[in-house]
Amino acid sequence: MEFESQRIDEFIGRYGREQSALIQVLQDIQAEYNYIPKPALKYLAEQLKVPLSEAYNVATFYETFSLEPKGRNHISVCLGTACHVRGAQLILEKFERELGVRTGCTSQDGEYSLDRVGCLGACALGPVVTVNGEYHGHMTLSKIDKLLKNIRAEKKDE
Ligand code: FES
Repeated sequence: MEFESQRIDEFIGRYGREQSALIQVLQDIQAEYNYIPKPALKYLAEQLKVPLSEAYNVATFYETFSLEPKGRNHISVCLGTACHVRGAQLILEKFERELGVRTGCTSQDGEYSLDRVGCLGACALGPVVTVNGEYHGHMTLSKIDKLLKNIRAEKKDE
């Protein structure tokens, strides 16, 4: 999706043309485009008079931001310690096999993105997976089959 400077201006208008608005505007851009287009990041940095390197550092520091387009279904597998010791690596590998997508990548049809993330703050539910931000705890290899079946069924219903 092409970014529109007018839309970024609308986001800036919500928080003020201040350097302190950087993260909030980035959140709005991420929500709008499902990623942060690089031209949008450059435009935002100019508008807020933030060095581009600083804006880039913020956009790459937080896991909620992505500079690459994400799939319609964004799957994150927690590889934090608590999830890792409960087999999260096997969960991640199964998603890679089932979706034909490598970790950190998006499928060619744009349907799925797969990422590994640090602790999601729900260690008691480990291994934890999120699909489009929704938590799925106590993940097992067989639960992955059900999860993907549901996602694919939802797609058919659309
Ligand atoms: S380590 Fe996975 S939720 Fe904390």
